[in-house]
Amino acid sequence: MLSLILQALFYSALRCSREMLSVDDGSKNLVRAINNRLSALSFHIREYYWVDMKKINEIYRYKTEEYSTDATNKFNIYPEQIPHWLVDWIPEKGGYLIGNLQPAHMDFRFFTLGNLWSIVSSLGTPKQNEAILNLIEAKWDDLMGHMPLKICYPALEYEEWRIITGSDPKNTPWSYHNGGSWPTLLWQFTLACMKMGRPELARKALDMAEKRLPVDSWPEYYDTRNGKFIGKQARLNQTWSIAGFLTSKMLLENPEMASLLFWEEDYELLEVCVCALSNSGRKKCSRGAAKSQILI
Ligand SMILES: *[C@@H]1O[C@H](CO)[C@@H](O)[C@H](O)[C@H]1NC(C)=O
Repeated sequence: MLSLILQALFYSALRCSREMLSVDDGSKNLVRAINNRLSALSFHIREYYWVDMKKINEIYRYKTEEYSTDATNKFNIYPEQIPHWLVDWIPEKGGYLIGNLQPAHMDFRFFTLGNLWSIVSSLGTPKQNEAILNLIEAKWDDLMGHMPLKICYPALEYEEWRIITGSDPKNTPWSYHNGGSWPTLLWQFTLACMKMGRPELARKALDMAEKRLPVDSWPEYYDTRNGKFIGKQARLNQTWSIAGFLTSKMLLENPEMASLLFWEEDYELLEVCVCALSNSGRKKCSRGAAKSQILI
């Protein structure tokens, strides 16, 4: 199974490629294959990666060791897997797509780019996309802190840091890829905000960045829980930090240009028969039937 960010990038790559194909007899089957894949991919993510307060409570009450196709707990997730931080952290309003999902294992960390790109590409449903921004707003101090934008939340610490990063000194808790803050993520955030009609959120992040980035000579990343320090090994004068900042500014000034860079919900895709992917040709073809399939 692939992480959320790879699925979101793959999803937008497929949507791009479909736009580039001219539809004729030769490409008809190709377009159909792309549509099937897009449909299956969005179904899988929307259904299984989404968490909010209601969903976490559902997992909390899961029964385990159910193995039929009607199982509610399809991936045999043990409720004990819900991390302690998440129970306290999840706001009443809002939700997000988790970082990764494998049988019996969910990576509940919030990965910013995957969630932002799910909004931009419409991998999430319109309601989910709105809820992701609501969560970012509700968790502003954790995700924005003194410098936008936290790459993931929370950081891996102690044993988890030792095992998962291999005691990597570059990825100590709240540094670099382990909960550091990356100004280049500003432009994807701005784009997501503009798509969802929330430009004021982007402006708030941009104003904060504008006060520090030039003074600090455009570092690539910031460290600490709230992004207070320039990153331990951050290089200065970084093109992608400046570009992320300038792109955000220009997108806010040119909403019509921003609209070229995101995708709206494709309602036709929702009609595509997800079951085309399954081998059981006799199954009724509907989203309800698709629910009993584990896709991708
Ligand atoms: C960054 O750019 C400024 C302005 O050109 C320059 O004065 C400074 O030396 C540069 N810093 C580094 C670390 O390259």
